[in-house]
Amino acid sequence: MSRIFSKYQGGGVHISGSRPVQGLETGDPSQKRFSGVVPPAAPLIFLALLCIAGAILWLDHNETLTILLLHPREVTADETPPPEEPSDICKNQRTPPAGSAALPRGIVQDKSNFEFEPLGRNPEMKELPPAKSLLAIPVGIKQKTVVDKLVSKFPAANFTLMLFHYDGVVEGWSDLPWSRRAVHVAAADQTKWWFGKRFLHPDLVAEYDYVFLWDEDIEVDDFDPLRYLDIVRKEGLEISQPALDRRSKIHQQLTARARRGGAVHRRFYKTVGGGRCYGNSTGPPCTGWVEMMVPVFSRAAWRCAWRMIQNDLVFAWGLDFKLGYCAQGDRTMNVGIVDSEYVLHRGIPTLGDAGDGKPATAAAGRSAVRQRSSTEMQIFNRRWSEAVAEDECWTDPYPEPPTATTKD
Ligand SMILES: *[C@@H]1O[C@H](CO)[C@@H](O)[C@H](O)[C@H]1NC(C)=O
Ligand SMILES: *[C@@H]1O[C@H](CO)[C@@H](O)[C@H](O)[C@H]1NC(C)=O
Repeated sequence: MSRIFSKYQGGGVHISGSRPVQGLETGDPSQKRFSGVVPPAAPLIFLALLCIAGAILWLDHNETLTILLLHPREVTADETPPPEEPSDICKNQRTPPAGSAALPRGIVQDKSNFEFEPLGRNPEMKELPPAKSLLAIPVGIKQKTVVDKLVSKFPAANFTLMLFHYDGVVEGWSDLPWSRRAVHVAAADQTKWWFGKRFLHPDLVAEYDYVFLWDEDIEVDDFDPLRYLDIVRKEGLEISQPALDRRSKIHQQLTARARRGGAVHRRFYKTVGGGRCYGNSTGPPCTGWVEMMVPVFSRAAWRCAWRMIQNDLVFAWGLDFKLGYCAQGDRTMNVGIVDSEYVLHRGIPTLGDAGDGKPATAAAGRSAVRQRSSTEMQIFNRRWSEAVAEDECWTDPYPEPPTATTKD
């Protein structure tokens, strides 16, 4: 695809390499209830109840759940079922994605991707694309060298690349060999989570096995993306991050590279002082948790996490502690830190730095940004508590307070 570079003009959002995005939200209400973590026994009870009621439970790619209620009827051995009237068939169809009821089913495509199309290719001869993952990074031109090294580690055959230009500078990257295969999105002074919420809708990234939503100030000398993917698949990690080299700016000990060898760790221990973590700790920051600087999400985990990101809380403080709800099961097992492939976090305060949120931008002073970050955390936690209180159908799979924060 020949790319159209939009010159950056302050205030606007520009995408090159992809078409404008419309009608993202499918609004499928059945998806909502089942995208989170469900306590282990609940699905079984639910299934049993449905079977008794003579219903069929239909799981579609583990992502949407649709219930087809059949008319109960007596079954005899030689009875051939009467042919279904068209009206019955229509009744039994799945709820169409919002907005598509006016169209014949077969024409509706509710998912897309960021793959470039060679314009001269015969569209009849479409071969199945190889499985890929997505690397998305907020970048500023000042970090060009370190971003170049980072991106160059990710093979083009296995990763689609998306850059979020928070300084609006797009042309400055065009001399790099990989620049033409990247999708470039520019919006002035916006954060990683602002971009992620707006441009990584789950229906747009549904083809990618994993979503890497990374900060830019990351050194990858000891990191191999393909080996990382192997480990994550083998260990069943739905949400993960590479361990942080101990020379990094480390905010939480769980994410530091384990001193003892091994591919992965899922918890850490702290048996003295405040904030203790034991083998029986069940939640963050002892276990079931990663930091927001280099997270990697499975397709299913991202589908859930994207829904938890709040449009207006652009620093996403507080979100990390709740990510375990998107782990597709037990967060102490499905969330982990990969030690054998690790990175160095330079800790340069930029808009990409979700860790301590001190971007030095023209638009906002550091102290204003820091203030906003912590206010956002209060708002997010308040919304969470209110949502829990209001939703009578929701059961908290992690009801106990994290043991780590137990005071002495
Ligand atoms: C990377 O891409 C190549 C070429 O499509 C493929 O053969 C290989 O299996 C991929 N590796 C992984 C880990 O997906
Ligand atoms: C967890 O383990 C620690 C140390 O073994 C112990 O002191 C504590 O009481 C345990 N907590 C729970 C909730 O079992």
